[in-house]
Amino acid sequence: APDYYSEQYRPQYHFTPEFGWLNDPNGMVYYEGEYHLFYQYYPYDRVWGPMHWGHAVSKDMIHWEHLPIALYPDKQGYIFSGSAVVDAHDTSGFFNGGSGLVAIFTHDANGKEKQSIAYSKDKGRTWTKYAGNPVLPPIADNDYRDPKVIWHEETQKWIMAVAGGKFRIYSSPNLINWTLESENNIYTECPDLFPLPVDGNAQNKKWVLSKGGRSYIIGSFDGKTFVPETNDIPMNYGPDTYATQSFSDVPGGRRIIMSWMTNLQYASSLKEVTNPWNGANTIPYELSLVTSPEGIRLMQKPIAELQQLRGADYTLTNKTVSPGTNLLEGHHALQAEIEAVFELGTAQEFGLKVRQGESEETIVGYDTANKKMFVDRNHSGAKLTGRSEAPLTPENNRITMHLFVDWSSVEAFGNDGKQIITNLVFPQFGSDKMELYAKGGDVQLVSLHLYDLKSTWRD
Ligand code: FRU
Repeated sequence: APDYYSEQYRPQYHFTPEFGWLNDPNGMVYYEGEYHLFYQYYPYDRVWGPMHWGHAVSKDMIHWEHLPIALYPDKQGYIFSGSAVVDAHDTSGFFNGGSGLVAIFTHDANGKEKQSIAYSKDKGRTWTKYAGNPVLPPIADNDYRDPKVIWHEETQKWIMAVAGGKFRIYSSPNLINWTLESENNIYTECPDLFPLPVDGNAQNKKWVLSKGGRSYIIGSFDGKTFVPETNDIPMNYGPDTYATQSFSDVPGGRRIIMSWMTNLQYASSLKEVTNPWNGANTIPYELSLVTSPEGIRLMQKPIAELQQLRGADYTLTNKTVSPGTNLLEGHHALQAEIEAVFELGTAQEFGLKVRQGESEETIVGYDTANKKMFVDRNHSGAKLTGRSEAPLTPENNRITMHLFVDWSSVEAFGNDGKQIITNLVFPQFGSDKMELYAKGGDVQLVSLHLYDLKSTWRD
């Protein structure tokens, strides 16, 4: 592999474009042995501009190969966010009775928005925009975008969720002719509506509406109307996930998401620290629904495929963590995975400090009295500060922390994916130390694995 991707802050196992600006993940779909990732892309600068769909493919959602730009802006507008599906039975008629990929996206012309489609007969390598575009013309609402399409088994129809303005559901037999089924006063960008079994029971499905990955609603869906059964539930307590989308057609019915890893408040200004690119995705998170004391909740776990990146494994078992000691003394990593299981003791606070240097550190901790996991990046390096907290109740008196540390991010999963806190951080290369800490008393470390992680671009 080429020896690029070694710039300061360049994510080593997260997706980034080689150069230029990236925002939302788009068109995520599995087809004939490959995962496709498209993304909102402006290749000529490190800030947002006329939108293209950049493209990459992967066999495992971890190692990505860059492909040429899939969709260019045209007379009808910029190519805004959208999704892609496998048209397995040629419902569209584009594939001469075979199968192929269909992308469904928003054409944006100076804020006037409409939905269009494109298709590929060669595994996503080349795309033809449908001659009859748009398939849904503009409506009175200017904000009308980010179509996410799924195949709805029960009604044997394609279902499109569109948002920006009102949340609208359309159905279609062929991806070309769409019928409005319902409108709802739910406001979001990048909606994603999909079913998941509750507690692994296929007989008990619930529908999840992800609102751009910032929050979600659990409910029911009959092919026409989404009926919420919960309020908005926070989906990531960190500041840095947005425009989340799930893959279509993943084998085994898995529901796997990736997000644009940043925050709209400062995404553009990050061009001051990353060059020649600006923008990254999270690692893929796999979703499930579980019954918890609070009700049915989404769990999000790093996909198992990430385990292939593990190098050397440093293990600790049954140790007491006390104030003033550091069991990770002498360990260094710019990129690492850490799995720690703690049994609560007398400590008021405990956890891990990563990317630590003379004056830098990112703290992933647990506040025992307030039952909160937190990430503190106030001294994490350049550009960004802040502290995020997620409610997290000990289970059997235990708290687990699962961390993915990279050159410019820390993703922290609490209690096996019950809560997630995703943060960008910009520490110096020299900040590569780690610490296990406890404050105000002791905590028992049941086990810890510290894995070196390989780079997906260079190793
Ligand atoms: C979200 C978003 C989408 C839109 C796209 C444009 O970040 O604003 O709603 O389709 O970005 O790039």
